[in-house]
Amino acid sequence: MFNLFKKQKKDLVQIESDYREISNRTSWHLPPNLGWLECKLSYEEISHLWKCVNHSKEKNLPSFKENLAGNISHSYELNDIDDYIFKNTLCPLVKIYSNCFLNDPMKRSLNNFLPTDKEKFNLRLEKYWVNYQKQYEFNPLHQHGGCYSFVIWLKIPIEFEDQNKGNITNTPLRSAFEFLFIDSIGTPSTYTYRLGKGFEGTMLFFPSNLQHQVHPFYDCDEERISISGNLMNVVK
Ligand SMILES: [Fe+2]
Repeated sequence: MFNLFKKQKKDLVQIESDYREISNRTSWHLPPNLGWLECKLSYEEISHLWKCVNHSKEKNLPSFKENLAGNISHSYELNDIDDYIFKNTLCPLVKIYSNCFLNDPMKRSLNNFLPTDKEKFNLRLEKYWVNYQKQYEFNPLHQHGGCYSFVIWLKIPIEFEDQNKGNITNTPLRSAFEFLFIDSIGTPSTYTYRLGKGFEGTMLFFPSNLQHQVHPFYDCDEERISISGNLMNVVK
């Protein structure tokens, strides 16, 4: 019995040593893929967004619903007054995105999806709108048109944890926002944002083709207010 214990101990040491030796001559590789940016907006940016929302109401700007997949009561066009968000937020994020995801050598395989050749294209904020989502309403799986798109949560009247309390399921998703993508072995995968007040003033900036969906919330009469937009590369 005593000898057996000693032998096992020796094997464990040997295994650890083999592991370290093999680790030292092994590297790992992650295939190139596109992700998204998550940006906390400044007080000035959020104030500007509310200004755009109020301007849209005052000027009675047209409904945007017919352009959207969302089963949401009210969506309206916005004007980016003085091109503020385009110049101060979106253009820097395009650069940050490029630095994060389109650096060499990945750029070679991915830049077809995101043409950024400044000599041939002008980037423009082509679509820009506000959504007023009521309880039970949802936005099914969809993608946007354009090059880059974004969503900004301005007002979230519920907390994910409260919404899913007593929700007997192995996939609690009430009030969540999800990205859907295919992983390197072909499995559809999701990344879930468990939305609550902490996400007010947060922007997600992503390739327009990245699929996403918005789940409904319940037991709350207040609206959830979000802003979205699409950046297009327009041929000069
Ligand atoms: Fe969307």
